[in-house]
Amino acid sequence: MSSQPKFPYDFIGGVLITQEQIEQRVDAIGKQISADYVNSEKLLLLGLLRGSVMFITDLMRKIQRPLTMDFMSVSSYAGNTTSGFVRIDSDHKTNIHGWDVILIDDIVDSGFTIHTVRKLLLERKPKSLKVCAMLDKVDRHKVEIGIDYLGFEIPDYFVVGYGLDIDEKGRNLPYIASVDMTKYKK
Ligand code: IMP
Ligand code: MG
Repeated sequence: MSSQPKFPYDFIGGVLITQEQIEQRVDAIGKQISADYVNSEKLLLLGLLRGSVMFITDLMRKIQRPLTMDFMSVSSYAGNTTSGFVRIDSDHKTNIHGWDVILIDDIVDSGFTIHTVRKLLLERKPKSLKVCAMLDKVDRHKVEIGIDYLGFEIPDYFVVGYGLDIDEKGRNLPYIASVDMTKYKK
C-alpha cells in the first residue's frame, strides 16, 4: 500500500477538493470538450501561465480531438490582492486566426484576467473562443464574464494546489487546499 505523500507546507487550512474529485471533473470536462469540438480540426488550448499548467496537462489527455497547446503569461496579482490591471508578460506564439481557441486558467477571482485576455484574443480573430477554468470564486467577480467549462465553484478562500500558488508556494499539491493565513509566513 502506498502511503500518502507529505508536503512541507505548514500553512494548509484544509483540503477543499480532493485528487479524486479533480480527476472526475477533469475527465467530465474532457468528454464535454471532445463532444463539442467533434468537427474542429484546429483546436488550440491556450493556457495562462503558470497556474493552469497542471490542469491543462491533465485535461489535454482527456480530449479526444486533434489539438495543439500554447501559453501566455499575464500578471494581475500581487500576493493576495487583485487589481483591475492586467499586464501581458509573454504572448502566445500561435497565430490564432481561424482557430477554435479554449482559454484556460486556474481560477477566476475578480474576472479581470479572463475579461482582459478574452478581449485581446478576440481582436486576433479566432474562429471561436471559449473559456475554461478549474475554479471560480463566484462571489468575488467584479466584471461579468462567461465560463464555458468550469471545474468547481468555491467560496471566498485563498487556495493553493493543483497548480495554484501563494507567493509561488504550494503549486505541487495534487489537491486543492485552503490557506490558513494565520499560519502563513512570507
Ligand atoms: P482575477 O483576474 O481577479 O480573476 O484573478 C485571477 C488570477 O488570480 C488567477 O489566475 C490566479 O493567478 C490568481 N488567484 C486568484 N485567487 C487565487 C487563489 O485563491 N489562489 C491562488 N491564486 C489566485
Ligand atoms: Mg493566474
